[in-house]
Amino acid sequence: MMEIRGKRVIITGGCGGIALGIAKLFAELDKRVILVDRNIEPGLQLAQEFSNVECIQLDMSDHQAVETRLGPLLNAEDAPEILVNAVGWSPKYDADGKPWKPWTIPMDHWREVVSVNVEAPFNMCRLALPKMIERRYGRIINIGSVVARNGGGVAPLHYVTSKSAVLGLTIGVAKDVAEFGITVNAVNPGRIDTPMIHDVSEETNRFLMSRIPLGRFGQPRDVAGSVVFLASDYADYITGTAIEVNGGLYVGP
Ligand SMILES: NC(=O)c1ccc[n+]([C@@H]2O[C@H](COP(=O)([O-])OP(=O)(O)OC[C@H]3O[C@@H](n4cnc5c(N)ncnc54)[C@H](O)[C@@H]3O)[C@@H](O)[C@H]2O)c1
Repeated sequence: MMEIRGKRVIITGGCGGIALGIAKLFAELDKRVILVDRNIEPGLQLAQEFSNVECIQLDMSDHQAVETRLGPLLNAEDAPEILVNAVGWSPKYDADGKPWKPWTIPMDHWREVVSVNVEAPFNMCRLALPKMIERRYGRIINIGSVVARNGGGVAPLHYVTSKSAVLGLTIGVAKDVAEFGITVNAVNPGRIDTPMIHDVSEETNRFLMSRIPLGRFGQPRDVAGSVVFLASDYADYITGTAIEVNGGLYVGP
């Protein structure tokens, strides 16, 4: 029987499509779930369904505010044993509606994307690790992306680069904390049916779906299953790697 030793889970970007799927699965497994997002409306709806779900409103790119608000929570006796970094931002078009190209991305916009997609997960690792080390136990699961390995269809360069960095963050932190009984892994989704994929045309989505051998976009629950597995004792011997949840995209046409 699969067991999850951690009783508490914190999920950043926790009110997004994929994160809510993860939250629901943990909530169904009777875990206490904390969702951190700048828009908590969707999470409040889940909290009405599950009394073990709560929401905290925060901009994850405001690293000082995150430290002030979440630092004490992550250091408390009942701090979450499981950290899921799901926050992500994929801005596809510039102010004129044109897809970003490497030569059109201004430095400050590049930094905004890196701040949300890379620095926020790092900040959370940094803040959560001391308690995990003290306990000699912890699970960190970073939501990366298929784009880290394939360059990413419609995804812009800053997003692609940031998701490659999430993989580097996963590997690097895993190496440094393995001796403390903490595992760090990534889940790399392919195309999952959430608000994030509906900012491109239906035609583009049809084309992208035609390249997926399993013939459909993923659902948040498809990603959630891998996250829960990595948080469980079934995955005790897995660290510093990524599970690819993409419907077979790498073997597609
Ligand atoms: N949907 C996909 O096809 C897909 C594919 C690969 C990877 N991903 C990754 O999965 C994760 C979840 O994506 P999703 O599809 O659920 O997208 P989503 O847009 O539904 O969710 C993203 C969430 O992050 C929150 N967020 C963004 N910037 C924030 C900030 N600065 N502070 C606080 N919250 C912030 C948003 O409010 C939103 O709730 C992301 O890391 C994304 O990069 C998604």
